[in-house]
Amino acid sequence: MHQRASAPDMMPPPACCVGVFDSGVGGLTVLTALRRRLPHTRLLYAADSAYAPYGERDASYVIDRSRRLAQFLLSQGAQAIVVACNTATALAIAELRRQWPLIPFVGIEPAIKPALAASAGRPVGVLATPATLSSAKFQALVLSLNPQGDLLLQPCPGLAEAIETLGPDAPGTRGLIARFCAPLREAGCSTVVLGCTHYPLVAEAIREALGAAGAGACLLDPADAVAAQTGRIVASLQTPAARRDAQQGPELIAWTNGQPAALRRVAAACGLDGMPVRTLPAMLE
Ligand code: DGL
Repeated sequence: MHQRASAPDMMPPPACCVGVFDSGVGGLTVLTALRRRLPHTRLLYAADSAYAPYGERDASYVIDRSRRLAQFLLSQGAQAIVVACNTATALAIAELRRQWPLIPFVGIEPAIKPALAASAGRPVGVLATPATLSSAKFQALVLSLNPQGDLLLQPCPGLAEAIETLGPDAPGTRGLIARFCAPLREAGCSTVVLGCTHYPLVAEAIREALGAAGAGACLLDPADAVAAQTGRIVASLQTPAARRDAQQGPELIAWTNGQPAALRRVAAACGLDGMPVRTLPAMLE
C-alpha cells in the first residue's frame, strides 16, 4: 500500500533571497556555483559593467560602487550578499559589513591555502588584478600562510576588461593571457590560483598558455567553497518571512548597466541560459 506524503513532505522547499554582485560578467562564475548548490534560493545578480574594471582602481572607487550595488540588491529583497569579486572583497567588504552589520556578506579570496597544499612544494602561480594583489587584505593572507615554496604573484592589468569588452575568446584577450602566463610557464607552475572571478571564463586559454604543465595543471577557483559558505548562511536565514519573500518574482534575475546581450551570452556559456536580464536603475549611475 502506498503511503501518502506527510504534510511536511508536501511543503514547497524552503528558500530565501541572496544578492550577488561583481564589476561585470565575472561573478557569473560564482552565480553558477550558487545555482548548483542552492537550487531553491532566489538569486539576484548585479553586474556593474559600465564601471568595470575595478582591478586598476583605488579603494574609494570600489567602496563607492560596492555600496551602491549592495544598496540596490537589499532594496530588491536580498537577505544576504555574495561579493562575487576578489577586488571588491579585498577593498570594500569591511566597509559593507560596517554599514550593514545585520546583513551577512560572503566574500571571495584567491585560493592560496588549497593551492599551497596541492602544490607539493612546487611553485604556485597567482593570477589576480593589481588592486587585489596590492591590497592589505591579500598581503595579510599571504603572511598568515607563510608559504615555504615560490609564490609567483602575477598582476593581470586589463585582462578582466578584455574578457568584459572583447570577450573570452578574442585574440586581444588571448594575447594578454599568453603574456601574463609566460612567467608562470617559465617557472613550471602546475598549480595556478584564479584570483579574479573573470578568469575561470578563460580557464582553457590559461591552460594552453601554461605550456607543457598546462594540461594537467590544477587551476584553483573557490566559487564552490563560496557557494557552500553561502549555503550555511541561507540555512540559518530560512524564517517564514524569508520563505514568503522568496516566492515573489523569478528565482534567478540579473541587472546590468552594460550590454544585456553580453551578459546573456556569458550566462548561457555558464549554463544559466534563459536568465532574465534587466537594466540597472539610475541609482547605480
Ligand atoms: N571580477 C573581479 C575580481 O574578481 C574584478 C575584475 C575587475 O573589474 O577588474 O577581481
